[in-house]
Amino acid sequence: EKAGYEHFMMKEIQEQPKAVQDTLNSVIHENKIDLAEVGLEEEQIRDVSQIYIVACGSAYHVGVAAQYVIEDLARIPVRVELASEFRYRKPILDPNGLVIIISQSGETADSLAALREAKSKGIRTLAIVNVVGSSIAREADNVFYTLAGPEISVATTKAYSTQLIAAYCLAVQFALVREEITEEYYTELITEMQTLPDKIRKVLDDKERIQWFAAKQANARDIFFIGRGLDYAISLEGSLKMKEISYIHSEAYAAGELKHGTISLLEDNTLVIGVLTQSDLYEKTLSNMVECKSRGAYLCAVTSYGNYSIEDTADFVTYIPKTDTHFATSLAVIPLQLMGYYVSVSKGLDVDKPRNLAKSVTVE
Ligand code: M6R
Repeated sequence: EKAGYEHFMMKEIQEQPKAVQDTLNSVIHENKIDLAEVGLEEEQIRDVSQIYIVACGSAYHVGVAAQYVIEDLARIPVRVELASEFRYRKPILDPNGLVIIISQSGETADSLAALREAKSKGIRTLAIVNVVGSSIAREADNVFYTLAGPEISVATTKAYSTQLIAAYCLAVQFALVREEITEEYYTELITEMQTLPDKIRKVLDDKERIQWFAAKQANARDIFFIGRGLDYAISLEGSLKMKEISYIHSEAYAAGELKHGTISLLEDNTLVIGVLTQSDLYEKTLSNMVECKSRGAYLCAVTSYGNYSIEDTADFVTYIPKTDTHFATSLAVIPLQLMGYYVSVSKGLDVDKPRNLAKSVTVE
């Protein structure tokens, strides 16, 4: 039941520190990642020459983030694909490839079909799944269970957060096994990952301010989310959260791509939400925000503590604690989930069961 919360979505948002902690605890033992339960041998990890991540919706957005993290740390090429596209484009798969299917329910028809397609070609499959014993979990060669617990709200929050953790653990372990990172950096990354539950708690503590801001956006017609690199991956998720439960049209854009079309949509007071957690890309995205402002946009920024120069440009800022840049997605997504939630609540909509959507999409 809702345990005193008005909606499952808020209950599940609040459960994220625990869900993330449980998922970390399931694979981190004595400050080392242990993939024995997942069933991946070191030799298999060494042999992988290409990774394909295939998923739908928010799980696909985890894939977009995972691509950055795996490529950067483990230096293995990664392709991310929407399951509904992958299965029909006669994919050319590397025989030493690894197909990673990400799915909360483990029953999404397109993701299941993509898994079968990969298996029929003899490619190893690894599923990141939340529901134990689901079809995808049963059919995949290897399974990494996320320990989010049951998720009721159609808009995913805690499952998304635990899928990110699974992706980080694979990236960090692959990086070590393939000798792409030092033992010291490995230990540092694992130590930092374990601080995420507390840091998520800290972001959640700021929810009244976000509620206040979100309530003022109920009449927005369009909202744009922009970011670069991992911040683009977060933008994709922020935009989906917003549109699916608030019914406000929103789009995520790679910040540098704005001036190739989208910027013409900006009018006075159009809300643009910039995500700036990647220090090496901060100035670049900031200058894109300045461009939006000069076209009349109303600016909200999600960035790390310390980046106070943002206040010269943005109208509203939400700060997140500092972390290793690879893991910032886990923190920056929280204010975006809260924004979608509070806009939906302030419009009096059915937060947990938005119109036309199902929790698990078992048709193609
Ligand atoms: O159960 P799955 O993770 O396979 O579901 C995938 C998508 O249907 C799901 O993430 C959907 O996009 C959510 N409504 C997003 O909040």
